[in-house]
Amino acid sequence: MANTASDLPTTPAPASFIFVICQNGAESATKLEIMNNHPNLSLAFSRPGFITFKVSAEAPLPQRFTLKSALARTYGWSLGKCTSQDASSMVADVSTNVQFENSNHLHVWQRDPFTPGRNGFEPGISALAEEVGCLFKTDLEKSGSKLIVNKESKPDDKIFDVVMVEPNEWWYGYHFASTVAGRWPGGTPAIDTSIETYSRAYFKLSEALLWSGITIQPGDHCVEIGSAPGGACQLLLEKGAKVIGIDPAEMEPGILEHDNFVHIRKRGTDVKRKEFRNTKWLISDLNADPNFSIETVAEIVNHPLVDVKGIILTLKFSEWKNTSSIPDLMKAAKALGFQVVKARQLAFNRREICLVAVKDKFVLRLGKKHVKPKRQAKSEKPTP
Ligand SMILES: C[S@@+](CC[C@H](N)C(=O)[O-])C[C@H]1O[C@@H](n2cnc3c(N)ncnc32)[C@H](O)[C@@H]1O
Repeated sequence: MANTASDLPTTPAPASFIFVICQNGAESATKLEIMNNHPNLSLAFSRPGFITFKVSAEAPLPQRFTLKSALARTYGWSLGKCTSQDASSMVADVSTNVQFENSNHLHVWQRDPFTPGRNGFEPGISALAEEVGCLFKTDLEKSGSKLIVNKESKPDDKIFDVVMVEPNEWWYGYHFASTVAGRWPGGTPAIDTSIETYSRAYFKLSEALLWSGITIQPGDHCVEIGSAPGGACQLLLEKGAKVIGIDPAEMEPGILEHDNFVHIRKRGTDVKRKEFRNTKWLISDLNADPNFSIETVAEIVNHPLVDVKGIILTLKFSEWKNTSSIPDLMKAAKALGFQVVKARQLAFNRREICLVAVKDKFVLRLGKKHVKPKRQAKSEKPTP
């Protein structure tokens, strides 16, 4: 979302640079997307998975800025970097920053070394980042600081970020947790990737649900188009959903044998519309052009027998430059009658994005918790 005039800073911007984290390999597409949407930003520094931009002095950003970007995993103010072979001295160096002292959380992580899923790499806090986090914790405990290390923050908390661009080169900065992903260390939710899954789609759908705020309830009717071998269906079944998987390819026996699963071994377009009659959540993960995926979903959603609450699409791009079509894909989804449409390159995505659209925004468990006004206890006297 772009910043509005009312967001303009009342205090001067804390720095002239911002940092952006993206998937390893997505840098060019991310730079283009951000500079198109924010003409006040110009490229400063770039490494795989890590970019900094200079903010124009004529058009500053507010302290709590948000970027209009589907490809940025997380971002914040960039305050500088430190380099040393000695991690303890870097910890001491970073800890003296004035923004460090008045933050609520500390997030420490390494930039992605590879594309997710390649060479066994999955996003999250690496063993090295964990070790550095422990060094910070030890120092914080000694000084009696309450800073919380590498945990999900609450909405609007102030987070100090340490990005290990190289093991001996750390860039640091801070941000306010104004988005759901902004509350996660490095913009990546803590998902246990050590569990056995039928495919990586299990992690992608787990993250999609956490990010979007969609909750799958036991008994919900879900359909997945492009369901083989079955990672996403595995997650849906674990959540107690009734699942139809549509795919001409074979499903894993563990999924096929599940009482709540039905396999329709066809292409999505060849399935009778009545099969979608009770569907609440429509999921699509086709290895096909994003426009084809949207058209396939549109034919189902537009049918008078069908009344889905929401769709969760994984849209795959044959080339990074094709990600420039994300705004058009979102418009196409909106035209199907959805009230809320969001798109994001999830940390667990590869050259793909997750597009979520819901008919009614109230089905989403929003990031900011609804705070009920406090009731006065009966015995309590009203304050004057
Ligand atoms: C990335 S895989 C899906 C992974 C799956 N969601 C999982 O959880 O394991 C893409 C699948 O799309 C299927 N597919 C491609 N075109 C299709 C179509 N028109 N209708 C249904 N499935 C299709 C392929 O057979 C392939 O199994």
